Amino acid sequence: MESLTKEKLKIENLCKTFEDGKGAVSSASFTVNNGEFLSILGPSGCGKTTILRMLIGLIPPTSGSIYKDGEDITHFPPSKRGMGIVFQNYALFNNMTVLENVEYALKVKKETKATARETALEYIEKMGLIEHKDKKPNELSGGQQQRVAIARTLVLKPDIILFDEPMSALDIATRLTLRAELKALQKEFAITMIYITHDQEEAFSMSDRIMVMDKSVIVQIGTPEEILSSPATEYVQSFVVDNLKAKVDALSKFVGLSHDSNKK
Ligand SMILES: Nc1ncnc2c1ncn2[C@@H]1O[C@H](COP(=O)(O)OP(=O)(O)OP(=O)(O)O)[C@@H](O)[C@H]1O
Ligand SMILES: [Mg+2]
Repeated sequence: MESLTKEKLKIENLCKTFEDGKGAVSSASFTVNNGEFLSILGPSGCGKTTILRMLIGLIPPTSGSIYKDGEDITHFPPSKRGMGIVFQNYALFNNMTVLENVEYALKVKKETKATARETALEYIEKMGLIEHKDKKPNELSGGQQQRVAIARTLVLKPDIILFDEPMSALDIATRLTLRAELKALQKEFAITMIYITHDQEEAFSMSDRIMVMDKSVIVQIGTPEEILSSPATEYVQSFVVDNLKAKVDALSKFVGLSHDSNKK
């Protein structure tokens, strides 16, 4: 077993300036440990998605380097990075069934038909979707669609999965269930996960460490406890800590209400 402290990813001075001259990410440096769950937390437009798109190779950085297991992968094509990505909008093929969606990635990788089917079914089962395998995405709930997207990512056995606000379109009860499932999958497969959210409560409940961003810059990286006990700046105090307390209050009211209604 590789230890949790071994570096999986090392990001050095990663910058992105778009053609219009506006900087979206300014000199980001951080590491992600093997099997770690790292959240990227920050308000809209601070550069979270841009970092993820550079990590997976969808856009080239303006400057800086990305190392995975010690190897410089900055200019590798996405298919050679061993990473998967799950988006907010699921990005499923609507004309294909659940099974076909999950099989598709394996077929692209030139697996035989029989192996692709067997592996796809295994992961569909694991995600609790077996009874839905012949349905099209538009016959599924949002949470079920996101499970298909996760199965489709897992089936390629990435060692890093990137999530871009995967739960922000889902209702709170579905989010709570999916969170627990994701954490269980992470443990089972020892996958390194990088998870974008702008929900403070979500970041604090799921992460080994949280990376807080503001206006293209990383302001603090630390464990939930470190961030709560010593917020690095006034901004971390107000955007992260104060908002977290408000969210937790709201959530306990929600849990309290649903608890009461169950009693009746
Ligand atoms: N292709 C692009 N061309 C020009 N500017 C871009 C491009 N993509 C993103 N930006 C800009 O870069 C900045 C960071 O965008 P990014 O999508 O990384 O933010 P984000 O933190 O993911 O926000 P959100 O929470 O709203 O998803 C924004 O100001 C955005 O307008
Ligand atoms: Mg984004």
